[in-house]
Amino acid sequence: MQVKKLGFDLEVYTTKEELPTTEKHLLEMAVKARKNAYAPYSNFSVGAAILLENGKIVLGNNQENACYPSGLCAERVAIFSAGANYPNTTILSVAISASSNEEELMQPAGPCGNCRQSMAEYEQKQESPISVIMSGASGAVYKCKAVQDLLPLTFNSSFLSDS
Ligand code: THU
Repeated sequence: MQVKKLGFDLEVYTTKEELPTTEKHLLEMAVKARKNAYAPYSNFSVGAAILLENGKIVLGNNQENACYPSGLCAERVAIFSAGANYPNTTILSVAISASSNEEELMQPAGPCGNCRQSMAEYEQKQESPISVIMSGASGAVYKCKAVQDLLPLTFNSSFLSDS
């Protein structure tokens, strides 16, 4: 038996002001998107902003539903929109801003497991990493270089027999 250590580098910024200009702008767009979230049931709003290699930014936010499971997270709203509207354009980065509507979240929130899986699909498809910038409403910001970092041992199409 051998033990393999899996790990990744997480960049930690004290505030968004420390981010390089492009990433700071992307995060500000995610904050903007968060403010348009439809989250009447959880009162927890999330915004996602996706930067494409052509410079375009695609936004998403969580969309809830009275039938709770019918709602969708911000990250998937954004990445499915990118996939639908720019199917052949490489995705460079996704910035996420999350916060309760009642009390500002002061620490970064990572994307949920379903969103990690969905984003990993596009990363695998385009064969290049999508960096992930994570934040609350304010305070520290985390950045990792690839979705893969957040979802080691990902289930992907290579396991399916006819792909
Ligand atoms: N949510 C997101 O939009 N992204 C995540 O990664 C985690 C959770 C949303 C789903 C739901 O509308 C609300 O936040 C509370 O879970």
